Amino acid sequence: MKEFEFIIPERIVFGAGAINKLPEKARGLGKKALIITGKSSRPEKTELVKKVKDLLSQAGISSIVFDKVEQNPRSTTCNEAAKMCRDNGCDVTVGLGGGSPMDVSKFCAMLAVNDGQMEDYMPGGKYASKPESELKCLPIICITTTSGTGSEATQFAVVTNPENENKPGLGYDFWYPKLSIVDPELMLSMPAEVTRNTGLDVLYHALEAYISNGATPASSILAAEAIRLVIANLKTVLDNPADIEARSAMAWANTLAGIAIANGGTIAIHGMAHPIGGHTDAAHGAALSSIAPTVLAYTWKANPKVYAELAKLMGAAEADEETLAANCGSTLKSFLQLVGNDITAGSLGVTNEMIPVLAKDAFFTMEGAISNTWMKLTLNDVEQIYKKSL
Ligand SMILES: [Fe+2]
Repeated sequence: MKEFEFIIPERIVFGAGAINKLPEKARGLGKKALIITGKSSRPEKTELVKKVKDLLSQAGISSIVFDKVEQNPRSTTCNEAAKMCRDNGCDVTVGLGGGSPMDVSKFCAMLAVNDGQMEDYMPGGKYASKPESELKCLPIICITTTSGTGSEATQFAVVTNPENENKPGLGYDFWYPKLSIVDPELMLSMPAEVTRNTGLDVLYHALEAYISNGATPASSILAAEAIRLVIANLKTVLDNPADIEARSAMAWANTLAGIAIANGGTIAIHGMAHPIGGHTDAAHGAALSSIAPTVLAYTWKANPKVYAELAKLMGAAEADEETLAANCGSTLKSFLQLVGNDITAGSLGVTNEMIPVLAKDAFFTMEGAISNTWMKLTLNDVEQIYKKSL
């Protein structure tokens, strides 16, 4: 068996009603919180912010709110949140919402107590290679209201620089939240499109961690269970949004898949979807779906055994290993048809002319994910995959 490390240095409080444990679990993590949340003004959201403020105050933590986080959050938004955090003497950040607010809570926790702006920490920036040991970070609490991104269980966060449309995923161990609340009841009001896109993000985290060349015995077992849960439950929550058991299964799959990528990594599917999101502002789940079947079909030959296992986890009919692996992409495509997300990159605004830029960005901003793919991908391979996905 290969040598490996397994890390999950955080407290995850899971279950329907888990939000009510916030006072008990957050006590001592800070005195003043910056709650970071999305732009939405849905009544459920306003209510939830009020409730979280209330629960934090029961833990002896006062709070103020930054509510300007957009889909595919910009580096400028992170800078603005960090300034508010510093100016108001906040000593803990709370990401409340989906992946975007949780990610901004991580960036803000770092930027508030170090030199420089967000752009300085992105690839090519003056602090991009600064060792983590020379940086500081405030404690982070994540309260997830979607079952996607897994940010509540990882050391990763994703940001877009509006100047050059680069969208890298960054990672520091101090970005593991001190506390994550995963409460499926908070997910009941998720709109269908968000349920679909975030649910598929969970599937990609899980399947990419499973077939990553960085997979370990620990990450694979979590990834396999997450794949099984998404295949069994995503269609159910789309058909019956109030089904708390299916919502819980998706929430657990999300957390498992987050831990799986924290330890096994993502592959070229995430590596190539980020530039699409950066340049077109497409939802993350949609960008992933637009290229994933092609990535699988293009790369399976580098490790037929693991791709065949993946096809079986996704429900492919019994066949020999080579057939299963070769059909892994079409097995995924069938599931995407079932959940209404069989889309092309062209439909998201990707054009032939954009492909050289997207391919270059994929290597510049997401090289780690590209190199986790068993097939050693060249710039030309990545361009070919984009082309076949149009
Ligand atoms: Fe993702």
